[in-house]
Amino acid sequence: MEIKVCVIFVSLVIGVNCNQRNVQFAEDTALSGFKCSATEQIGDVVLTQTTQMCTSVCASTDGCKSVFYKHSECVRCRSRYRKAGDARLMPMAGSVSYRTVVRCNPGWLSLLDSCYLWNSSTIMTFYKTKDYCSSLGAHVLYIDSAEEKDVASNFLPEIAVSDRKAWIGIQLKNKTWISSINGKLVAYFNWASGEPENFGEDCAITLGPDLWRWGDTMCTGLRHVVCEKDM
Ligand SMILES: *[C@@H]1O[C@H](CO)[C@@H](O)[C@H](O)[C@H]1NC(C)=O
Ligand SMILES: *[C@@H]1O[C@H](CO)[C@@H](O)[C@H](O)[C@H]1NC(C)=O
Repeated sequence: MEIKVCVIFVSLVIGVNCNQRNVQFAEDTALSGFKCSATEQIGDVVLTQTTQMCTSVCASTDGCKSVFYKHSECVRCRSRYRKAGDARLMPMAGSVSYRTVVRCNPGWLSLLDSCYLWNSSTIMTFYKTKDYCSSLGAHVLYIDSAEEKDVASNFLPEIAVSDRKAWIGIQLKNKTWISSINGKLVAYFNWASGEPENFGEDCAITLGPDLWRWGDTMCTGLRHVVCEKDM
Protein backbone atom coordinates (compact mmCIF):
# COMPACT_ATOMS: atom_id res chain seq x y z
CA MET A 1 0.00 0.00 0.00
CA GLU A 2 2.75 2.43 0.96
CA ILE A 3 4.63 1.87 -2.26
CA LYS A 4 1.51 2.25 -4.34
CA VAL A 5 0.74 5.52 -2.62
CA CYS A 6 4.09 6.88 -3.70
CA VAL A 7 3.59 5.82 -7.30
CA ILE A 8 0.19 7.46 -7.48
CA PHE A 9 1.66 10.70 -6.36
CA VAL A 10 4.40 11.05 -8.89
CA SER A 11 2.20 12.84 -11.39
CA LEU A 12 0.43 14.96 -8.82
CA VAL A 13 2.99 16.18 -6.42
CA ILE A 14 6.41 17.64 -6.75
CA GLY A 15 8.87 16.44 -4.18
CA VAL A 16 7.41 13.08 -3.31
CA ASN A 17 8.74 11.93 -0.02
CA CYS A 18 7.70 8.57 1.29
CA ASN A 19 9.32 8.58 4.65
CA GLN A 20 8.00 6.77 7.70
CA ARG A 21 5.80 9.65 8.76
CA ASN A 22 4.17 9.62 5.38
CA VAL A 23 4.60 13.31 4.78
CA GLN A 24 3.82 14.54 1.31
CA PHE A 25 3.81 17.95 -0.29
CA ALA A 26 1.90 19.84 -2.90
CA GLU A 27 3.26 22.93 -4.53
CA ASP A 28 0.86 25.82 -4.91
CA THR A 29 2.05 28.26 -7.52
CA ALA A 30 -0.79 30.65 -6.69
CA LEU A 31 1.11 31.41 -3.51
CA SER A 32 4.47 32.04 -5.14
CA GLY A 33 6.01 35.29 -4.00
CA PHE A 34 4.53 35.11 -0.50
CA LYS A 35 5.55 33.82 2.86
CA CYS A 36 3.76 33.56 6.18
CA SER A 37 3.68 36.58 8.50
CA ALA A 38 5.96 36.79 11.52
CA THR A 39 3.24 35.60 13.92
CA GLU A 40 2.59 32.55 11.75
CA GLN A 41 6.25 31.69 11.37
CA ILE A 42 7.79 29.03 13.59
CA GLY A 43 11.36 29.71 14.70
CA ASP A 44 14.00 31.19 12.46
CA VAL A 45 14.56 30.67 8.78
CA VAL A 46 16.41 27.39 8.28
CA LEU A 47 18.88 26.91 5.46
CA THR A 48 18.28 23.69 3.54
CA GLN A 49 19.66 22.58 0.21
CA THR A 50 16.43 21.27 -1.26
CA THR A 51 12.69 21.73 -0.91
CA GLN A 52 12.47 18.10 0.23
CA MET A 53 14.83 18.84 3.10
CA CYS A 54 12.80 21.92 3.94
CA THR A 55 9.61 19.89 4.19
CA SER A 56 11.41 17.24 6.24
CA VAL A 57 12.44 19.93 8.70
CA CYS A 58 8.79 21.00 8.85
CA ALA A 59 7.72 17.40 9.46
CA SER A 60 9.90 17.25 12.53
CA THR A 61 8.76 20.65 13.85
CA ASP A 62 5.70 20.65 16.12
CA GLY A 63 2.78 22.56 14.64
CA CYS A 64 4.40 23.09 11.24
CA LYS A 65 1.76 22.83 8.52
CA SER A 66 3.39 24.43 5.51
CA VAL A 67 6.66 25.82 4.28
CA PHE A 68 7.83 28.56 2.00
CA TYR A 69 11.08 27.87 0.24
CA LYS A 70 13.24 30.40 -1.59
CA HIS A 71 16.63 29.35 -2.84
CA SER A 72 17.94 27.76 0.33
CA GLU A 73 15.77 29.65 2.79
CA CYS A 74 13.15 27.46 4.41
CA VAL A 75 10.36 29.22 6.33
CA ARG A 76 8.17 27.03 8.54
CA CYS A 77 4.60 28.14 9.12
CA ARG A 78 1.74 27.27 11.45
CA SER A 79 -1.06 27.47 8.91
CA ARG A 80 -1.98 26.34 5.47
CA TYR A 81 -2.75 29.11 3.05
CA ARG A 82 -5.23 28.97 0.25
CA LYS A 83 -5.17 32.35 -1.42
CA ALA A 84 -2.63 35.01 -2.16
CA GLY A 85 -5.10 37.46 -0.55
CA ASP A 86 -4.78 35.65 2.78
CA ALA A 87 -4.15 38.32 5.42
CA ARG A 88 -1.61 36.11 7.11
CA LEU A 89 0.64 36.20 4.07
CA MET A 90 3.46 38.65 3.40
CA PRO A 91 4.95 39.45 0.02
CA MET A 92 8.43 38.06 -0.43
CA ALA A 93 10.73 39.17 -3.22
CA GLY A 94 12.07 36.59 -5.62
CA SER A 95 10.67 33.23 -6.47
CA VAL A 96 9.25 31.28 -3.58
CA SER A 97 7.76 27.83 -3.55
CA TYR A 98 4.90 27.27 -1.19
CA ARG A 99 4.18 23.75 -0.07
CA THR A 100 1.42 22.35 2.03
CA VAL A 101 2.61 19.72 4.40
CA VAL A 102 0.09 17.06 5.25
CA ARG A 103 0.78 14.34 7.70
CA CYS A 104 -1.20 11.20 7.22
CA ASN A 105 -0.92 7.89 8.97
CA PRO A 106 0.91 5.17 7.07
CA GLY A 107 -1.32 3.72 4.37
CA TRP A 108 -3.32 6.93 3.98
CA LEU A 109 -2.96 9.09 0.91
CA SER A 110 -2.23 12.80 1.38
CA LEU A 111 -3.96 15.20 -0.98
CA LEU A 112 -4.64 18.88 -0.41
CA ASP A 113 -5.81 19.23 3.19
CA SER A 114 -7.06 15.69 3.66
CA CYS A 115 -5.91 12.15 4.14
CA TYR A 116 -7.69 9.41 2.20
CA LEU A 117 -7.93 5.70 2.73
CA TRP A 118 -9.33 3.29 0.19
CA ASN A 119 -10.01 -0.11 1.68
CA SER A 120 -9.41 -2.18 -1.43
CA SER A 121 -10.37 -5.44 0.21
CA THR A 122 -14.02 -4.68 0.72
CA ILE A 123 -17.20 -3.11 -0.62
CA MET A 124 -19.94 -2.11 1.81
CA THR A 125 -23.34 -0.47 2.17
CA PHE A 126 -23.37 3.25 2.84
CA TYR A 127 -24.19 2.79 6.52
CA LYS A 128 -21.41 0.24 7.05
CA THR A 129 -19.05 2.59 5.24
CA LYS A 130 -20.08 5.43 7.53
CA ASP A 131 -19.45 3.31 10.62
CA TYR A 132 -16.20 1.97 9.25
CA CYS A 133 -14.88 5.46 8.47
CA SER A 134 -15.93 6.78 11.90
CA SER A 135 -14.13 3.91 13.55
CA LEU A 136 -10.99 5.29 11.91
CA GLY A 137 -11.69 8.83 13.09
CA ALA A 138 -12.62 9.75 9.52
CA HIS A 139 -15.71 10.30 7.40
CA VAL A 140 -16.97 9.04 4.07
CA LEU A 141 -15.25 10.68 1.07
CA TYR A 142 -16.71 14.16 0.77
CA ILE A 143 -16.15 16.04 -2.46
CA ASP A 144 -17.05 19.60 -1.63
CA SER A 145 -15.56 21.65 -4.41
CA ALA A 146 -14.44 21.42 -7.99
CA GLU A 147 -10.92 21.43 -6.62
CA GLU A 148 -11.47 18.35 -4.57
CA LYS A 149 -13.23 16.72 -7.49
CA ASP A 150 -10.01 17.17 -9.46
CA VAL A 151 -8.20 15.49 -6.65
CA ALA A 152 -10.62 12.62 -6.61
CA SER A 153 -10.36 12.21 -10.36
CA ASN A 154 -6.63 11.77 -9.99
CA PHE A 155 -6.93 9.52 -7.00
CA LEU A 156 -9.87 7.24 -7.66
CA PRO A 157 -8.84 5.76 -11.02
CA GLU A 158 -5.83 4.26 -9.33
CA ILE A 159 -7.75 2.66 -6.55
CA ALA A 160 -10.72 1.20 -8.33
CA VAL A 161 -9.60 -0.73 -11.35
CA SER A 162 -12.83 -2.33 -12.44
CA ASP A 163 -15.69 -0.59 -10.71
CA ARG A 164 -14.99 3.00 -9.77
CA LYS A 165 -18.17 3.60 -7.88
CA ALA A 166 -17.35 4.89 -4.43
CA TRP A 167 -19.64 6.32 -1.78
CA ILE A 168 -19.80 10.07 -1.31
CA GLY A 169 -20.70 11.37 2.15
CA ILE A 170 -24.02 12.97 1.31
CA GLN A 171 -27.58 11.77 1.94
CA LEU A 172 -31.03 12.75 0.79
CA LYS A 173 -33.16 13.63 3.83
CA ASN A 174 -36.57 15.19 3.50
CA LYS A 175 -35.90 15.82 -0.20
CA THR A 176 -32.73 17.75 0.56
CA TRP A 177 -29.15 16.61 0.10
CA ILE A 178 -27.23 17.07 3.30
CA SER A 179 -23.70 16.22 4.38
CA SER A 180 -23.59 12.89 6.20
CA ILE A 181 -20.77 14.33 8.27
CA ASN A 182 -22.42 17.38 9.82
CA GLY A 183 -25.98 17.50 8.45
CA LYS A 184 -25.35 20.78 6.63
CA LEU A 185 -26.93 21.47 3.27
CA VAL A 186 -24.72 20.35 0.41
CA ALA A 187 -23.55 23.34 -1.61
CA TYR A 188 -21.44 21.68 -4.28
CA PHE A 189 -22.82 19.03 -6.65
CA ASN A 190 -21.35 17.28 -9.63
CA TRP A 191 -24.28 15.18 -10.86
CA ALA A 192 -24.03 13.32 -14.15
CA SER A 193 -26.68 14.25 -16.68
CA GLY A 194 -30.00 12.63 -15.80
CA GLU A 195 -28.93 12.42 -12.15
CA PRO A 196 -30.16 12.39 -9.48
CA GLU A 197 -32.93 10.04 -10.47
CA ASN A 198 -34.69 10.23 -7.11
CA PHE A 199 -36.26 6.77 -7.20
CA GLY A 200 -35.99 6.27 -3.50
CA GLU A 201 -32.26 6.58 -3.95
CA ASP A 202 -31.04 8.40 -0.92
CA CYS A 203 -27.30 8.02 -1.24
CA ALA A 204 -24.73 9.07 -3.82
CA ILE A 205 -21.69 7.59 -5.53
CA THR A 206 -19.07 8.61 -8.02
CA LEU A 207 -20.04 7.09 -11.36
CA GLY A 208 -16.63 6.61 -12.87
CA PRO A 209 -13.97 8.33 -14.88
CA ASP A 210 -16.37 10.53 -16.85
CA LEU A 211 -15.35 13.67 -14.96
CA TRP A 212 -16.21 11.80 -11.77
CA ARG A 213 -19.77 12.90 -11.96
CA TRP A 214 -22.18 11.60 -9.38
CA GLY A 215 -25.28 9.49 -9.39
CA ASP A 216 -27.80 8.76 -6.68
CA THR A 217 -28.26 5.18 -5.61
CA MET A 218 -29.77 3.04 -2.88
CA CYS A 219 -27.86 3.23 0.37
CA THR A 220 -28.02 -0.55 0.72
CA GLY A 221 -25.91 -1.28 -2.37
CA LEU A 222 -22.32 -2.46 -2.02
CA ARG A 223 -19.81 0.14 -3.13
CA HIS A 224 -16.18 1.08 -2.73
CA VAL A 225 -15.14 2.49 0.59
CA VAL A 226 -13.05 5.66 0.66
CA CYS A 227 -12.63 7.39 4.00
CA GLU A 228 -11.37 10.94 4.36
CA LYS A 229 -9.83 12.71 7.31
CA ASP A 230 -9.66 16.50 7.28
CA MET A 231 -6.36 17.83 8.55
C1 LIG B 1 -11.00 -3.27 5.31
O1 LIG B 1 -12.28 -3.69 5.67
C2 LIG B 1 -12.32 -5.01 6.13
C3 LIG B 1 -13.78 -5.37 6.35
O2 LIG B 1 -14.39 -4.47 7.27
C4 LIG B 1 -11.49 -5.13 7.40
O3 LIG B 1 -11.49 -6.45 7.85
C5 LIG B 1 -10.07 -4.68 7.10
O4 LIG B 1 -9.31 -4.66 8.27
C6 LIG B 1 -10.08 -3.30 6.50
N1 LIG B 1 -8.75 -2.91 6.10
C7 LIG B 1 -8.20 -1.77 6.50
C8 LIG B 1 -6.86 -1.45 5.94
O5 LIG B 1 -8.74 -1.04 7.31
C1 LIG C 1 -39.31 18.77 5.48
O1 LIG C 1 -39.26 19.95 4.70
C2 LIG C 1 -40.46 20.72 4.75
C3 LIG C 1 -40.33 21.87 3.74
O2 LIG C 1 -39.03 22.36 3.67
C4 LIG C 1 -40.69 21.20 6.17
O3 LIG C 1 -41.88 21.95 6.23
C5 LIG C 1 -40.80 19.98 7.08
O4 LIG C 1 -40.94 20.40 8.43
C6 LIG C 1 -39.56 19.10 6.94
N1 LIG C 1 -39.75 17.86 7.70
C7 LIG C 1 -38.85 17.36 8.49
C8 LIG C 1 -39.18 16.08 9.16
O5 LIG C 1 -37.76 17.90 8.68
